[in-house]
Amino acid sequence: MLSEAGRRRTFAIVSHPDAGKTTLTEKLLLYGGALHLAGTVTARKKERATVSDWMELERKRGISVSSTVLNFDYGGYRVNLLDTPGHKDFSEDTYRVLTAVDSVIMVIDGGKGIEGQTRKLFEVCRRRNTPVFTFVNKMDRPALDTLALLDEIERVLNIRAYPMNLPMGSGVDFRGIFDRRAAAACFYERVPGGAYRAPEAVSGGIGDPVVRDALTPSVYAALCEEALMVEHAGSSFSPEDVLAGLTTPVFFGSAANNFGVQLLLDGFLEFSPPPQPRMSRGAAVNPESELFSGFVFKIQANMDPKHRDRMAFVRIVSGRFERGMTAVNTRTGKSMRLANSSAIFGRERTTVDEAFAGDVIGVLGLDALRIGDTLCGDSSVMYDEIPVFPPECFAIIHNPSPANYKRFREGLTQLALEGLVKLYEIPAGHQRISLLGAVGPLQFDLVQYRLESEYNAASRIENTDWTMVKGIKMNGVDAVDEKSLHIPTGARLALDSDGRQVMLFPTEWHLRFFEEHNEGVAIGE
Ligand code: G4P
Repeated sequence: MLSEAGRRRTFAIVSHPDAGKTTLTEKLLLYGGALHLAGTVTARKKERATVSDWMELERKRGISVSSTVLNFDYGGYRVNLLDTPGHKDFSEDTYRVLTAVDSVIMVIDGGKGIEGQTRKLFEVCRRRNTPVFTFVNKMDRPALDTLALLDEIERVLNIRAYPMNLPMGSGVDFRGIFDRRAAAACFYERVPGGAYRAPEAVSGGIGDPVVRDALTPSVYAALCEEALMVEHAGSSFSPEDVLAGLTTPVFFGSAANNFGVQLLLDGFLEFSPPPQPRMSRGAAVNPESELFSGFVFKIQANMDPKHRDRMAFVRIVSGRFERGMTAVNTRTGKSMRLANSSAIFGRERTTVDEAFAGDVIGVLGLDALRIGDTLCGDSSVMYDEIPVFPPECFAIIHNPSPANYKRFREGLTQLALEGLVKLYEIPAGHQRISLLGAVGPLQFDLVQYRLESEYNAASRIENTDWTMVKGIKMNGVDAVDEKSLHIPTGARLALDSDGRQVMLFPTEWHLRFFEEHNEGVAIGE
């Protein structure tokens, strides 16, 4: 068991949109034999469509909105790669995926440096002390100065950046990378058709005439200077600091040209952590523990349009999973049989009979599961991995066609169960006004799109000025009589999806006004 858990590497790739996350994912899959050689750009696009971009919206908007799981074996390791949504809104979905990984590869566009979304995602990793590996991509395009880039990573992200290799030029002058550990140059070749060829080390140190003669004098001079500077900057490589999230090993390359990817993968597998313990009721549960346990970090309805079902994604934390086993949902105390379990590869599913700590399995047919639930061999473990983010944007959603009401409601309820948005109801006489709450407004587009494509239900969105929602109680009791409340203009009473009363406020001022004028009303989250 120890060796099964120990050989797992479960990670995510994060990046600002367009830095090259999808391209890098593809190339990593080539190494695992999980994808076959992508011969042409069209073939590449097709493969991409079948593996990572499985929602039409992703293709239409050029964003990756839903996470998939990809896995492959490489060099004795079982690599589990969890894709994260890559749009500009910070989304809870991304955060949840990051709770299920043990490390992260951060892709940076070498010509742009650290961009907004990278910084936000990195902050999430830091909060969880997740080890981060950095891949500086697109070195075949003009890139920022190497030392300036390393400095930017250190300054902006407040982490030590340790270059595992150094680029030899960039753009038209890009000649490859210098692998510091092997003290050898890997020369970049443009291979027609984007064919797959791993770089080979071909020299014996920076002083080797093979290196000097291959580079333009200015690129060679820059390489010598940079090598000297990073050597002098001192600190030697510390794998412990990487595991503690204090140092990020930095690799350079070009994902589109499959250059530098193998060095990244090899370095990553060598220094990234195996499945890590997770905290349950103040105590750590180790992956080697014999007791099966895991938590649900994502729920997705209608993943496959042919099967109208809900899949719960479970990250296994400890023990061994066996298909057909019984586990307790510790939130409800109910036992459930895990009979319909799948390994998910993009859109594809295959039945999984056994799995170990670090693996992600998809469980079907258990509608009682919620995001954040713990599944365990007995009821002793309860993970608290998934925080809830208060929504900051609210929009009323209308159903323009009364005949479709059932489909519209069913869709809304399912999408709220997935955690895509929070669902509220505003009492208005006999009418039910449905209100959506989310961290970012892109979620509303997604809801509309999915209602239409998966439930054949049109909808209309009306944006509102509310920016926060707070639960209210009077003398510890839920039901507060609206007439007894002093509500400032602009604020509104509503019900959350469990029927509890909440207040919607446009600004802090409205919240304070409400607090000051409603004595005895307790305001919660
Ligand atoms: P993302 O998932 O992070 O959003 O980025 P993605 O991989 O989709 O890459 C964004 C664009 O950058 C793509 O171009 C991709 O080909 C290009 N790209 C990725 N890696 C490299 C690299 O190493 N060098 C260069 N020059 N370009 C790179 P596109 O035109 O949007 O798509 P496509 O037509 O190439 O598929």
